[in-house]
Amino acid sequence: MSGHSVIIDKILRLKKEKRAIIIAHNYQREEVQDIADFTGDSLELSQKAASADCDVIVFCGVDFMAESASVLSPNKTVLLPSKDAFCPMAGMITVKGQRNTRTAFPGYHYTDGYKYPSDYTLKDIKKAYPGVPVVTYVNTTADVKAESDICCTSANAVKVVESLDSGKVICIPDRNLSAWIARNTKKEVIAWDGFCHTHDRARKEDVYKARAEHPDALFLAHPECRMEVLELADHVTSTSGMLRYAASSAAKEFIIGTEIGLLHRLRKENPDKAFHILRKDMICPNMKKTTLESVLRSLQTMTNVVKVPDKVRLPAKKALDKMLAIY
Ligand code: 13P
Ligand code: SF4
Repeated sequence: MSGHSVIIDKILRLKKEKRAIIIAHNYQREEVQDIADFTGDSLELSQKAASADCDVIVFCGVDFMAESASVLSPNKTVLLPSKDAFCPMAGMITVKGQRNTRTAFPGYHYTDGYKYPSDYTLKDIKKAYPGVPVVTYVNTTADVKAESDICCTSANAVKVVESLDSGKVICIPDRNLSAWIARNTKKEVIAWDGFCHTHDRARKEDVYKARAEHPDALFLAHPECRMEVLELADHVTSTSGMLRYAASSAAKEFIIGTEIGLLHRLRKENPDKAFHILRKDMICPNMKKTTLESVLRSLQTMTNVVKVPDKVRLPAKKALDKMLAIY
């Protein structure tokens, strides 16, 4: 047996023994996606975490996703195989303003006059706009969700904003998703200045170049990309939205403007179609931290348990449940 198949065998045995399910985000490593019971976008993974019939959820993703699973399923043990897997964008907003040092990751240079958003807090913005509902992207920590009116994902953000009985909304933390929401609603959007470094680095020149290289391809973009990129897209949607679009489209070739891990499922589920990444460096290092070895280790030792205390969990659940009820 090869190294991988020995590990996979052990994972499958332990999974059965512990009544565990493995769920993985669409950006995970190929071999991790392949052993998962369920692979999906952030919305689908939240829905799965809420409904799964199991004792243990092994969450192959980043910390805010495992936290949401714990919020929605307090009686299940939630394991995050790599405890260092975090979302830098989620660290860009805090409730009280303590600077999250993990956000300062190497290899990325803040550009375009970007102001570090942790200098200003969620409490400050709520004070500046009293009574204005806070719509919080799921890419946030549980305590930020607990201070919010409703959550959203890239799959339902516009629908969530439209569902609110207010002409003005605060959208946190992604400036690009917020700009996309503002483009698709008549409501006034007050946006935070956070961003995803994996998506934010794409520019319109990348789209021109990719279109010149693949003139017959459709371009699909994730709303975490900049507006200059979204404006050039044939379709803007979440990761699973891209999977659905590519499967049902008559087109045979696509340029993909999101994290490179999605190409695995796109190619596997559409073997007759061609997929090209918009930029080769659209890689989220945190999504790649989970390996087969770390999945096995967490199941063997039952470590890296993510548990959100009730004081935060209950208000955070309210914001997540409100989202899940409308979509
Ligand atoms: P979706 O899979 O919900 O589109 O999310 C993208 C993402 O960046 C998750 O961190
Ligand atoms: Fe966060 Fe972007 Fe990585 Fe998603 S792809 S986890 S938003 S840094």
